[in-house]
Amino acid sequence: MDPGSVLLTVVTGAIVAFLYWLYSFAVAPFRVLSRIGVRGPPPIPFYGNQKMVVKEGKLNFFTKMFETYGNVFGYYLGQRVIIVIKDIELIKEVTVKKCNNFSDRPPQPVLLKRGSAPRGLLNAEGAYWKKLRVTLSPSFSASKMKMMAPLIEEHCQTLESILSENADTDKSTDVTLAFGNLSLETIIAAAFGRSIDIQRGESDELLTAAEGIMARVREGAELSLERIITLLSNFPWMASVLRLLASRSKSGAHYQTLARVSLALIRARRQAPDAQQSYKDLLQLMLDATADGKEEHRKLTDEEVMAQCITFIVAGYETTSSLLSFTAYLLAKNPEVQDRLVGEIEAYLTEHPDSTPYEKALGIPYLDMVVQESMRVMPPVSSTNRYCVESTTVGDWKVPAGTVIIIPIWHLHHDPQYWPQPHKFDPDRFTDEEKDKRPALAHMPFGMGPRNCIGMRFALLEAKLALITILCKYKFVPAPETEDPLQLIHGVTSSPKNPLFLRVVSH
Ligand code: HEM
Repeated sequence: MDPGSVLLTVVTGAIVAFLYWLYSFAVAPFRVLSRIGVRGPPPIPFYGNQKMVVKEGKLNFFTKMFETYGNVFGYYLGQRVIIVIKDIELIKEVTVKKCNNFSDRPPQPVLLKRGSAPRGLLNAEGAYWKKLRVTLSPSFSASKMKMMAPLIEEHCQTLESILSENADTDKSTDVTLAFGNLSLETIIAAAFGRSIDIQRGESDELLTAAEGIMARVREGAELSLERIITLLSNFPWMASVLRLLASRSKSGAHYQTLARVSLALIRARRQAPDAQQSYKDLLQLMLDATADGKEEHRKLTDEEVMAQCITFIVAGYETTSSLLSFTAYLLAKNPEVQDRLVGEIEAYLTEHPDSTPYEKALGIPYLDMVVQESMRVMPPVSSTNRYCVESTTVGDWKVPAGTVIIIPIWHLHHDPQYWPQPHKFDPDRFTDEEKDKRPALAHMPFGMGPRNCIGMRFALLEAKLALITILCKYKFVPAPETEDPLQLIHGVTSSPKNPLFLRVVSH
């Protein structure tokens, strides 16, 4: 072969290789949705629809897409294929009927150094998730909540005494801060067995780290290293770069702090005499828990318990705090609902002067209706997701492995098909009679199926005890600084964008 032909062959080969590379990265990944027949906005080669989602914000983007394409649409975040489903039967198919095909959450960058710790329940995968879930579920049973209720109530009483300092004055209270501190103090006491007086201003590195992680989560819209990591994580082939970036991010450092401090606490608790009898917190329940499955009848290791402690802070702190802030706001804006609730709490406490904290929390039906309606109008988690681990069909669509399914909780909770006047706060939507008129899945603030929120009972218990403790003495009223409408940030969780100020008055 003459040199000219060799050159031509090499150049042709290079062009073919380049075109193949171009096709496999820029075109092929973006044909999945049209191939399976799911409609959605046209993707940009290489990039997908990321720009549109970032520009609009996830909530507005979803609203526009539902208006254009109906209850199911698809889009691409980088190369990640996403299908958003607002149809109740399809949601049931994904979260319940085919939960084995959709058992995981989408892979995330690992924030702890590789190999330094096992996964927490939120992001654990496959058989390991199942084993963890079986092991941890008894720690959140009704009987365990009954046992923990007095501990939770103690922290609510501290909150009440803090609120009393501004009560009946012309000082407004930043309730986001007050409920955030209550939630963090309670979760740290329960998950780490550590009593820090966060509500009274005591602080240590555990608090700084927990607050740091949540601040980063809230900062979702800013171009921080975390933001870059989140964007890049939509390109699966970036995995090793991501791990490197993640270990250097501020969140990475905060996670490392939580890991170090919690491991020391766990080891100290293991050595404490009579720990099983002396401690009634989540940490002790986890240390005592054994895996029920046949696979292994062994206790969780220190590292596994540590990963769960961190997960409970991340999953439970801001969510519970937002639930309480939103409820206080809605009560202040709807005085007739607040008056009725105060009346029902007073009547219960008069009729049952010796009730236990757990009995109180469960004994006032209207309190439950108010909390459920608050989470309907303003769900603390605006969407959840599942990862397709094994190709299957959902409705008429063939969903390939690797697809992410998003369940848009916020939009489901505002669908006029199930909720007439969806923006109206009306707890009477949750009478037994009204509940029977609509599908149960129209309301899913804690998700659905075997991978729903494990902390649901804990969160509801804390929120209800906090509301009883406050409302048996005080009411919330709007302050001059109160926003109307309340501005929100929708990241992983939904929370007030600015400090939420209310006035606290005696009744
Ligand atoms: C009002 C408060 C809370 C809300 C609205 C909430 C909501 C949610 C939602 C929507 C999910 C996803 C469920 C799904 O995909 O089906 C979830 C998962 C989870 N939540 Fe919560 N949550 C709250 C409080 C808590 C608390 C206090 C804890 C821990 C003590 C907690 C721990 C978890 C964990 C570990 C998961 C992952 C479960 C798994 O993947 O198996 N949450 N939560």
